[in-house]
Amino acid sequence: RMYMQALSGQSNWAWPVGIDQWRAAARRAMSREAWGYVEGAAGTEDTMHENRRALERIRIRSRMLRDVSDRDLSTTLMGQHFSVPFLLAPIGVQEIVHPDGDMASAAAAAASNVPFVLSTVSSFSIEQVAQAMGSARRWFQLYPGRDPEVMKSFLSRAEQAGYSAVVVTVDTTMLGWRPKDLETLYLPFLFGRGIANYTSDPAFRARLQESPGQDPAAAVQEFLRIYVNPAFTWGDLAELRQWTRLPVLVKGLTHPADVSRAQSLGFDGVIVSNHGGRQVDGGVATIAVLPAIRQAVGDTFPILMDSGIRSAQDVFKALALGADAVLLGRPYLYALAVGGQEAVEDLLMQFKAELDLQLALSGHRSISTIESNDVMVRS
Ligand code: FNR
Repeated sequence: RMYMQALSGQSNWAWPVGIDQWRAAARRAMSREAWGYVEGAAGTEDTMHENRRALERIRIRSRMLRDVSDRDLSTTLMGQHFSVPFLLAPIGVQEIVHPDGDMASAAAAAASNVPFVLSTVSSFSIEQVAQAMGSARRWFQLYPGRDPEVMKSFLSRAEQAGYSAVVVTVDTTMLGWRPKDLETLYLPFLFGRGIANYTSDPAFRARLQESPGQDPAAAVQEFLRIYVNPAFTWGDLAELRQWTRLPVLVKGLTHPADVSRAQSLGFDGVIVSNHGGRQVDGGVATIAVLPAIRQAVGDTFPILMDSGIRSAQDVFKALALGADAVLLGRPYLYALAVGGQEAVEDLLMQFKAELDLQLALSGHRSISTIESNDVMVRS
């Protein structure tokens, strides 16, 4: 399409092409503080780098002469049809990189037929984002917090507003040690940009009435008291499962034993993730643990994966090693920072086009035929 437009003199290609170009443009577009928050990771940032190092060690062995003229990127997960095997990961406080924040990302996802996962700590509310998406597929991410009433209220609001699955993120019992944020002292400002779901919530407002002091900082302080819960256990998670009729996936697992436990507790799937390296320093790469996790839970249990996905080759590798789909994290935030909704749409178009070519050139017509034999680990 790009070449056709150029040939007919209509090309006004406005956006970067390729992840390094998006990243560089995003860095120019963001404040130092926002860049540090988005790009930063825990401790020495070693887990974040390990995600990339491990993906780079996996190499694709292409198959030839197989007629790849018609191709299909679609898949079905938990009975839900996906046009592509990727989603937009839950990312909080998106307003710090673009004034339209989550509204723009969600609208771009809807226009691109890519599912969107809304964060608990979004800059716009569950209902506002639902409205921006029309009937397009959306999931809601929940942080297990300290107040069951607020969590139940979020879940019922998500059901009401047409979200079709819940993602419970269990790797954030508290925020990781993130040097870039500590240097800029950014977090106090940041939290105020991520409480839209709280300030619009009746159960949260009821809490606020009871707490002393009604200054604007009170809402942020109350939010900080309850939004995560270090005491949360498997028992609590099993109870939470009963609070919604939607499918529930557990996000933030990297150990096969934990994934098996989620499966046996009746969860509908997992998202193998180390939060983009933002929580545990010195952690395993998600791509490295995928094969053992797939083996532990059998062929049909839904496994999604994120952390380090930067281009189509990474999607291919994750699918080969046992994932059913992946989530894009930082890459779509780069696009959001560069040019709001339009830029995110363009990035998604690029991801799809590259994945389609990647599929064809490695000898596949469908993502369902990609298997572990199609990759090998470089020694
Ligand atoms: C996140 N992530 C995240 N996860 C979640 O469950 N709820 C959230 O609110 C957030 N917020 C958030 C903010 C920012 C700035 C980043 C970069 C990440 C984690 C996210 O869903 C995903 O797991 C990672 O982004 C994947 O890693 P990569 O691909 O970005 O390296």
